[in-house]
Amino acid sequence: MYRTRRLRKTENIRRLVRETKLSVDDFIYPLFIEEGSAIEADIVSMPGIKRFSLDRISKELDEVVALNIPSVMLFGIPSQKDEEGTETWNDNGIIQQAIRLIKENYPTLYVVTDVCFCEYTSHGHCGIIYQNDVDNDATLPNIAKQVISHAKAGVDMVAPSGMIDGSIETIRKALDDEGYYNLPIMGYSVKYASAFYGPFRDAADSAPAFGDRRTYQMDPANRNEGLREATYDDAEDADILMVKPALSYLDIIRDLKNNFDKPIACYNVSGEYAMVKAAAEKGWIDGERVMMESLLSMKRAGADIIITYFAKEAARLLNR
Ligand code: PBG
Repeated sequence: MYRTRRLRKTENIRRLVRETKLSVDDFIYPLFIEEGSAIEADIVSMPGIKRFSLDRISKELDEVVALNIPSVMLFGIPSQKDEEGTETWNDNGIIQQAIRLIKENYPTLYVVTDVCFCEYTSHGHCGIIYQNDVDNDATLPNIAKQVISHAKAGVDMVAPSGMIDGSIETIRKALDDEGYYNLPIMGYSVKYASAFYGPFRDAADSAPAFGDRRTYQMDPANRNEGLREATYDDAEDADILMVKPALSYLDIIRDLKNNFDKPIACYNVSGEYAMVKAAAEKGWIDGERVMMESLLSMKRAGADIIITYFAKEAARLLNR
């Protein structure tokens, strides 16, 4: 009989044969930054995560840096919204101010911005609305304006999340034309129309005022289409390809890992975080172990980079 249990006998032999290792190097930590002052607001459905105004953010950033987390991803909550989301390209907007503050005070922290409109539009959709739907091509020039404004503020990488066709190509050209040819793009390449974004939309105040996002985000039933989406972003020169959400889409992460020779990222989204927190709070699961097992499974599925609200907690365990 071949005894598979021989190599499981002690922790040290298990260490020697362990195939996947999670590291703090894998993490990007999302931050919600709200315009205004003295804001440090709990997000009820995301225990441990807060919305900060810029005058209150330094403690959080000190912690991220002390834990050796390499990167943060910024989401802005502006005080003003309009039909087009014009605040997104205001050079003095909340995200632009945040980028400058972070790069001045924490120069090595790698700053990624989520490039989208839903937090900035009065209707909560990810672009310009025409006949009750997001107008793809009319939205593209605004994406370019937003990205250039982030670039001027000093961002390290941009990540378009709106599922607007042609956005990677548009962004690459806009950046190159302005001389930012070394600024990389992480595509939210395979992003599903998911119920797992619920808590985020409360946090970022970005729920659509009418309808849903199913005309631009993907049908959760589709796997081949995920490969097609990634193929377009790859061809348009995205530097990193992302799958979102993560846990219900581990097959898609593996598909991308097997088919593309580029770094693969996944977004461990708000609903995935909230479920673990809620069950742990009830004492129904061991929250810490479920967190580490989920993150490990994303890595095992093929993710090189994990965007996660668990970054600080997981880093504390990994740094031990
Ligand atoms: C913006 C955006 C969303 C998320 C990240 N960027 C919301 C959405 O698409 O509705 C979700 C992140 C999360 O749930 O943690 N388009």
